[in-house]
Amino acid sequence: MRDPKILLPFEDMPRQWYNLAADLPEPPPPPLGPDGQPVGPDALAAVFPMNLVEQEMTTDRWVDIPDGVLELLARWRPTPLRRAYALEQYLGTPAKIFYKDESVSPPGSHKPNTAVAQAWYNKQFGIKRLTTETGAGQWGSALAYAGQLLGIQVDVWMVRVSFEQKPFRKTMMETWGARCVASPSIETQAGRTILEQDPDTPGSLGIAISEAIEAAVSDASGTTRYSLGSVLNHVMLHQTIIGLEAKKQLKLAGIDRPDVVIGCAGGGSNFAGLAFPFVADKIQGAQIEIIPVEPEACPTMTRAPYAYDHGDTARMTPLLPMHSLGHAFIPPSIHAGGLRYHGIAPLVSAGVQQGLLSPRAQQQLECYEAAVLFARTEGLIPAPETSHAIAAAIAEARRAKEEGRETVILFNYSGHGLMDLAGYQAYFAGQLENYPLPAEALERSLAVLEGLPRPPLESRIWHVERER
Ligand SMILES: Cc1ncc(COP(=O)(O)O)c(C=O)c1O
Repeated sequence: MRDPKILLPFEDMPRQWYNLAADLPEPPPPPLGPDGQPVGPDALAAVFPMNLVEQEMTTDRWVDIPDGVLELLARWRPTPLRRAYALEQYLGTPAKIFYKDESVSPPGSHKPNTAVAQAWYNKQFGIKRLTTETGAGQWGSALAYAGQLLGIQVDVWMVRVSFEQKPFRKTMMETWGARCVASPSIETQAGRTILEQDPDTPGSLGIAISEAIEAAVSDASGTTRYSLGSVLNHVMLHQTIIGLEAKKQLKLAGIDRPDVVIGCAGGGSNFAGLAFPFVADKIQGAQIEIIPVEPEACPTMTRAPYAYDHGDTARMTPLLPMHSLGHAFIPPSIHAGGLRYHGIAPLVSAGVQQGLLSPRAQQQLECYEAAVLFARTEGLIPAPETSHAIAAAIAEARRAKEEGRETVILFNYSGHGLMDLAGYQAYFAGQLENYPLPAEALERSLAVLEGLPRPPLESRIWHVERER
């Protein structure tokens, strides 16, 4: 009898996070302030607590996980690594498919790995209230959960289209004691301005981030900070526990190293969490194909330039060196709400630029098809975001079949889709479409990058797009 679960004992849970910034062949360029100069820690002090600002800027390879954070993570970690025997059998592939099941956390995704860490560091710093944005609602519910564990009030701005598509996410956040409003809202200047221009806007993560930052920095008590669920270096760092556990679990399964590592990518955190410990091996010479997967509707890595851009629509954040569709980008209303961000983490962008990562884009319908196949073979119903990783993993397994190779494929099962059944309902009713981003829409949204500084490594993609 075969056991498809590879479980790691609690004693073997990693005690340190891994920082890719220490090992990248070329360090990523620094964030810039409004004067075009690199921002120092003080510039971020109104937004984040100083202990997290230090983590954001560190280039230490390993960062100790405090005991208080380990204790919180231990509520659901280590997470299982699963072998997709049933999917392999259905596909008739010689490939071995493994997935790291991050859906077992209480809110149902990888997001609490950083939510509990961020809430813990904020608590240490004396913070009483956290503000944040959420797309699909996974991040908002993760921070609501973490705030409840640590006694911190949490206020969440949820992108309007998802707020309407996924009403039960709000109920989850409220169950954990948080407050959730649709973004844009009339509670902030940023929200009111957007609503005046476009009262029917579906919203975007960029707008919701502006609202949450404004709410944090305008609280005169000094005990409110903002928390971001992806993109930033410290978020990538906290998520590396996924890949560090997976490495140990693959060893338990008798696998020295995977051939292909895959994760869906919105801001980049679940991908980075699984992949960065393997990127370290690749830098040392290992042959691994490492694939971040994004939607065709929001093609940040595959069609947008490597540029300096703001992380939010109202341009409150520093300029970050990243692949960006432009901070004013309003993405099509696809169901994978967590993959609708205009940028992608600077560390992931640097990995793309330095040839360590091979990004790929998938269409909405092929993702739902993959998700349904996965549910009917493996039994788990994936989040629409996660289905992008599954579609790529299935494509790789089919390729292995064609080529007759025993490829080892590892992907991140970043979350379950039990709160996303409206998307499945629409798919079964034939109401969903593909939304490849039209070239004119891309060109329009990139216009905001004109005049902003350029990072030293300019992407070939940028030139290709401009020459079209
Ligand atoms: C289940 C799931 N996977 C992936 C993502 C994308 O975020 P990131 O790229 O930061 O992992 C989200 C975001 O909400 C999500 O909810």
